[in-house]
Amino acid sequence: MKPVILVTRRLPDAVEERLRRDYRPILNHRDTLYSSDDIIERSRGADAILTCHTERFTAEVIAGLSDTVRALATFSVGYEHIDRLAAGARGIIVTNTPEVLSDATAELTIMLMLGAARRAGEGERLVRSGEWRHWSTDFMVGTEVTGKRLGIIGLGRIGRIVARRARGFDMEIHYHNVRRLSPELEEGALYHESPEELMPHCDFLTLHCVASPETTGLLNDDLIARLPDGAVVVNASRGVVVDDDALIAGLRSGKLAAAGLDVYNGEPAIHPGYRQLPTVFLMPHIGSATKETRDAMGFRALDNLDAIFAGREPRDRVA
Ligand code: DGY
Repeated sequence: MKPVILVTRRLPDAVEERLRRDYRPILNHRDTLYSSDDIIERSRGADAILTCHTERFTAEVIAGLSDTVRALATFSVGYEHIDRLAAGARGIIVTNTPEVLSDATAELTIMLMLGAARRAGEGERLVRSGEWRHWSTDFMVGTEVTGKRLGIIGLGRIGRIVARRARGFDMEIHYHNVRRLSPELEEGALYHESPEELMPHCDFLTLHCVASPETTGLLNDDLIARLPDGAVVVNASRGVVVDDDALIAGLRSGKLAAAGLDVYNGEPAIHPGYRQLPTVFLMPHIGSATKETRDAMGFRALDNLDAIFAGREPRDRVA
């Protein structure tokens, strides 16, 4: 008998096709957002759950899941929405989808950096509105990216691709990581022992750390004050790593020239202060949103489920 998979969100066609071929999926055709109670209710009889970062699997939800559930595969590299300790305690295997979205997320990061520095949001809004009336030498002047220093907090898989792409703009790479990387992985990037030490070297700062209690509110007033005047901040990791009030204050005061954001605290209900700031380039959490990557994420999640149901260790086990 094929295992039953509860799928909490609509997935790309090719992924749902493979699900139908190899499993008995319970699909969410209308892509409605399930509440915790819905998930608990629908988990009855399911052997595994395939979910996204949009559903939270707290200890309470996990405690309520059907005893039949053996695995929880998330269609995301981030897994902070799943209480791994609670899952582990119930013997539920948790997997994620690393690597396959690194290029797409790095592309988006470079777009945020360029979009913020070169005022792409403002320019697009101006042209689209029909209000563009003139050109002058001081019109929409932004910040040049080429040759500047890029600071990266979290030089992991995505951070290292961002660094490689940024070198194409002759940027000098500085970074902070919990552990210093080997010279092969650093590829010439300059290490700083702490975020505080990194800040003065960042004309541009991009955050690529995982969401955790340690990184929550990491970019705060103190770190922003240590950045050079006119720095540009980019975040395509998770909203919680930024203290919104601090970032908004930094932008309002002119300490920061601009910011490019793809992720937010409480998204999609973002801090209203961002909407009032022309200097923030805002994207709606689309780091991995390319056809190629979304298919690859789904296939990677299915590879993990295939391994689990074949009695093998899944490649991307995180609990
Ligand atoms: C991820 O993979 O974590 C992305 O944010 C999409 O969920």
